Amino acid sequence: MRGSPRVAVIGASGQLGTDLVGVLADWDLMPLTHADLDIRDFVYTRKVLEDAKPDIVINSAAFNRVDDCEEEVSKAFWVNAFAVRNLAQVCADVDCALVHISTDYIFDGRKGTPYTEDDLPNPVSVYGMSKLAGECFVRSICPKHFVVRTSGLYGIAGSRAKGGNFVETMIRLPEKGQPIHVVNDQVLTPTYTKDLAEKLKELLQTKAYGLYHITNSGECSWYEFAQAIFDVLSVNADLKPITSAVYGAKARRPAYSVLANARLEALHLAPLGAWREALEAYLSDRVVGLRNTCSNDEDSCQ
Ligand SMILES: NC(=O)c1ccc[n+]([C@@H]2O[C@H](COP(=O)([O-])OP(=O)(O)OC[C@H]3O[C@@H](n4cnc5c(N)ncnc54)[C@H](OP(=O)(O)O)[C@@H]3O)[C@@H](O)[C@H]2O)c1
Repeated sequence: MRGSPRVAVIGASGQLGTDLVGVLADWDLMPLTHADLDIRDFVYTRKVLEDAKPDIVINSAAFNRVDDCEEEVSKAFWVNAFAVRNLAQVCADVDCALVHISTDYIFDGRKGTPYTEDDLPNPVSVYGMSKLAGECFVRSICPKHFVVRTSGLYGIAGSRAKGGNFVETMIRLPEKGQPIHVVNDQVLTPTYTKDLAEKLKELLQTKAYGLYHITNSGECSWYEFAQAIFDVLSVNADLKPITSAVYGAKARRPAYSVLANARLEALHLAPLGAWREALEAYLSDRVVGLRNTCSNDEDSCQ
């Protein structure tokens, strides 16, 4: 489309990347999957972006297996921080805007009320530390930046690295007939990647560069989120709350990581919908997706 910005989307086949490619389809898009471009290859990344001459680069790529980051510290920092530093440098050199996606896990979770963009980060995991380092590089190197923190993402494409997303995991589990244990002491705002992608499109057009929190509205624990999934689907699952201590994940996670979308509000951009409505939309979008898959390939749906 003439006159629309040229946008390179890195991590284009991830769950957020896929929705960004859909939502920005009427812009001049250059989707870059992991197979097209590994951001750890600094020289090639520079060449691809210098040749493409984008107006905007959106980086939705990350090493986001939070527990594995505790062991693979070097990989976490290469993907989430050093490669992001290179992206920031390239974008600054070619004078394009960089949109970098970050996380609620840069907070320690002790505040107990929603974190604003002015609150001090204090990550409690390697993943959180590597993502915070990435944020700092972008903010200090690339003048035209949007650093966007979000939380509990789920999208139709699913995360290949995570084997899908939380909602799909919950949908699969009752089939096994076992009790389902979900932590009830981590409170956040689950966020539908389609809603986030749509808001990012609006935000980009403002050119009001800076740091933003963008999530769906409201808050719940992972346990309450699971309850809502089964409730909406009318599934009678044997769901049981569990503490993080008993669950025993390798990485620590913040107990309360709800993000106040204060700067979005200050820009007079409408807040994203409530997390439960977003979940309902996701569950209905996924049924449409499954139906389309079936009508395109009847054999696989028998
Ligand atoms: N998921 C969450 O709950 C959550 C919460 C808060 C913030 N975030 C942040 O939101 C962003 C998007 O997350 P998401 O859930 O959409 O992740 P995702 O579905 O796992 O997508 C990440 C994409 O990045 C690609 N990628 C990984 N390493 C790469 C590399 N070295 N070079 C190029 N591409 C690479 C992945 O490709 P392969 O799969 O082929 O490796 C994948 O397509 C990330 O920055 C994440 O840190 C996520």
